[in-house]
Amino acid sequence: MPENVTEKKKVIFSAIQPSGTITLGNYLGALQNWVKLQDEYNCIFAVADLHAITVRQEPKDFRRNILEAYALLLACGIDTEKSPFFIQSHVHTHAELAWILNCYTQFGELSRMTQFKDKSQKHADNVNAGLFTYPSLMAADILLYQADLVPVGVDQKQHLELTRNIAERFNGIYGNTFKVPDAYIGQVGAKIMSLQEPTKKMSKSDENVNAWVAVLDKPETIMKKFKRAVTDSEAKVCVGEGKDGINNLIGIMSAVTGKTSDEITAEFDGRGYGDFKVAVAEAVIEKLRPIQERYSQYIENKDYLAEQYRKSAEFALRLSQRTLDKVMKKIGYLAK
Ligand code: TRP
Repeated sequence: MPENVTEKKKVIFSAIQPSGTITLGNYLGALQNWVKLQDEYNCIFAVADLHAITVRQEPKDFRRNILEAYALLLACGIDTEKSPFFIQSHVHTHAELAWILNCYTQFGELSRMTQFKDKSQKHADNVNAGLFTYPSLMAADILLYQADLVPVGVDQKQHLELTRNIAERFNGIYGNTFKVPDAYIGQVGAKIMSLQEPTKKMSKSDENVNAWVAVLDKPETIMKKFKRAVTDSEAKVCVGEGKDGINNLIGIMSAVTGKTSDEITAEFDGRGYGDFKVAVAEAVIEKLRPIQERYSQYIENKDYLAEQYRKSAEFALRLSQRTLDKVMKKIGYLAK
């Protein structure tokens, strides 16, 4: 094949919920990779604010969280010139296709979703139908754009598997309609663990605020949290069994600087954990500094943000409407 025949770029779709705090774990585990994917793929990204109301939201905080999540992702390097990046509720095709897909998703399938089981235990006073059908909305997000690939963490794998089943079922009934998406397994994002209990994933819902670092934490807060990070008694900076805390700090250092763990081990040979923790904190602070600077500019500039999300929503609507039209025609809806 001649070299100048450019293969069509694959489509990647992903979304993140506007849940208030974006942690270092979210950034190093997912967002940093989204940013890198933008050149190689046709990426489409969204703030999943429709998904967010499966748990009760305080209107004022919710509105602010949506905009802050949007601004922060732009600050992390999502470039709307390359990748449309929109707010889910601004593109009405998502809710519409979600309803349709609900009618092609079985009660039994949704009952088996582990996230539903977990969340309905956690929010036992509000086990609403949206929490139950959340995966069909996620399927709609993905299938509307005929996405080839979806970068997902382990917690969303089951939802993606269900998305594939729904797509295959629909295609089976009506003929080829949806691209059946695969999980994106590229360079896997670093799995960042709690600084306090390093066998657990870093999570902002952890009651101990020292367990996680937010992308927008102040430098002195970041330093303090790393200084308090749990380690072990061996006092040797290297990867090893039973050294979850140090393994995690090396993982963070590596994700932030691009150095391998061998390089890091060599660099800190003969030096104590105190030194190492400070060095990791400094590297994280430097990594986050430009993001924090861009964030404060964006969040002050609401017009700029609106321009970005409106432009992206228009694009997303045009693209997704094609899929929705096709679906409706196949089902037998009367044309408008
Ligand atoms: N459910 C995902 C989460 O909570 C967010 C999400 C919504 C998503 N729609 C998606 C992720 C589509 C990937 C593709 O993390």
